[in-house]
Amino acid sequence: MIIPNPELLSDARFEVKYLDSHQTDAREGEDVIRGLTSSPKTLPPKYFYDSKGSELFERICQLPEYYLTRTETAIITAACEEIVTITGVCELIELGSGNSQKTRLFLSAYESLGKPWRYIPIDVSRETLYYSALKLCHDYPLLSILGLVGTIEQALLQLPPSCHKRMLIFLGSTLGNFTPDETEEFLRLLRQILNPGDYFLLGIDLQKPIDIVEKAYNDNQGVTAAFNLNILSHLNWRFEGNFDLSLFKHQAVYNFEKHQIEMYLQATESHKVRLNKLNLEISFDEGEKILTEISRKFNLQNMITLLAKYDLNTVKFWTDKDNWFALILSQLKATNLC
Ligand code: TRP
Repeated sequence: MIIPNPELLSDARFEVKYLDSHQTDAREGEDVIRGLTSSPKTLPPKYFYDSKGSELFERICQLPEYYLTRTETAIITAACEEIVTITGVCELIELGSGNSQKTRLFLSAYESLGKPWRYIPIDVSRETLYYSALKLCHDYPLLSILGLVGTIEQALLQLPPSCHKRMLIFLGSTLGNFTPDETEEFLRLLRQILNPGDYFLLGIDLQKPIDIVEKAYNDNQGVTAAFNLNILSHLNWRFEGNFDLSLFKHQAVYNFEKHQIEMYLQATESHKVRLNKLNLEISFDEGEKILTEISRKFNLQNMITLLAKYDLNTVKFWTDKDNWFALILSQLKATNLC
């Protein structure tokens, strides 16, 4: 896919910037080396989202077993007018915006307020970000868009300053892909970055019968398996690797104690893999697993308490009729106002 140079775009309402990676990654691929040489082996989930991975993820979102997207969409559809009424005109910042499909519901509701405003989508996949932002610009005439290509951490550290009221949007239960420590680190950073009175809108998957959850990550058509395995193809091209995808299989199991799905790639026989660019050779035993992702399932009240610990007071929350998913609107406490 060829991406035109953003500078060549004539529309003043549209800009895409690449976030600086130097502040966070000491060296490109250092995180891969760290993950593959630790025991058990792990991989950073950001490598899922090359353009093929982003495409596969969009297919996951449409799978009958993957209840998360449609449940969250139904909640947003019912709640977005009310959210707009509560927040008023607001600059919207979205972490992991993907194709911004669910966000369109908010954009339409904000557009009806009839004032110009700004949307800042942030995603690691530049193709996905670029084309969805361009389409949004076309569909919402009052909107200006600043797309930021980078990881969530980079985005939070390099967010452009603003004198407007803002709402940070974090949907799809992506927060569940963080460990408990990473979650607290993330919320600590949010408290630093947001101004008192700013909003944080969070979509989280709730605890429910395990068979429903496990099916969502083990679909019949094997799309999730292809998505999981694609992380190895991505490493092959990015770091000149020779992972043989036929020697790994996808596994997703629910960990009862931690209330989380754990996604693995399991080696079917013992073999070695090289990543030339990283000057790395890794050995796999037969049956050895790489942990590629966790997806935590939450208790709503505990999440509200955790948000409050970081001065994010819940204004209102919405769930679906089965209590499978929740959308929480919180607001940074107006303490040290300057
Ligand atoms: N945020 C999504 C989730 O936790 C990410 C996801 C869905 C995912 N399916 C996946 C990540 C499969 C890895 C593999 O549900």
